[in-house]
Amino acid sequence: MKRFVPMVAIDVATKQEAIALFDKLMVDPQPIVKIGMELYYGLGQVIVCEAKKRGFKVFLDLKLYDIPNTVHRAMAAIGRLGIDFTTIHAAGGSEMMIAGLAGLEEGAKEVGVAPAKLLAITQLTSIDEQILHEQQHVDLSLIESVQNYAQLAERVGLAGVVCSAHEIKAIRKVTGDDFLCVTPGIRPVHALKDDQKRVVTPVQARIDGSNAIVVGRPITQSVDPVAAYQKIQKAFLNEEEEK
Ligand code: C5P
Repeated sequence: MKRFVPMVAIDVATKQEAIALFDKLMVDPQPIVKIGMELYYGLGQVIVCEAKKRGFKVFLDLKLYDIPNTVHRAMAAIGRLGIDFTTIHAAGGSEMMIAGLAGLEEGAKEVGVAPAKLLAITQLTSIDEQILHEQQHVDLSLIESVQNYAQLAERVGLAGVVCSAHEIKAIRKVTGDDFLCVTPGIRPVHALKDDQKRVVTPVQARIDGSNAIVVGRPITQSVDPVAAYQKIQKAFLNEEEEK
């Protein structure tokens, strides 16, 4: 099964902090860096260029959700950045996801690079059964809704989903072997949980079948981000069991 190096969530407010982390994390194997809305909306394309300049693969996590035409054009712009992974909300429907995929491929083709892998957001982990039923008026259970969105995303050609490691088993029941499950909410043994509620260790994520883990604060707020990253990377890729 395909496993990627850990994706480090660069959730910091300034360019200086982001670049300091990039410079530290230029180790072998280099992590994939995840740039989210805060950094991208604050700094724009320059931060993607700074990461790429240093040889990082980039996961640009912007969670697009709009009418198909707008998503198509926005994804073309993202495709032109030459990044490696990006995200879209499955709740926008199949037409929107197809438009996003087409835009991403067109943008990448224009600049002569391979298109990014497009991952679907199913239900946000901040949505619980109560919100699902009382505000969204969805009759399915939360996990059935996640399975439904994962199937829909696979059917229209997306590469995978971002999900909790706790959801992998249910998603694998309804999707093919190559469909990617990318999992945040990871905490090494002994690490603080921060605001994450249901965390799993890197080793458990591997056992559960995660294709890639997303890890932020246990690395970025560590006194030694490189050592923290390398320990997590080895544990996830099974190069050395976590003690
Ligand atoms: O610092 P921490 O490891 O909790 O960061 C996890 C990263 O994964 C953050 O960038 C967060 O926004 C993202 N994420 C998440 N849960 C989701 C989707 C994304 O924690 N369901």
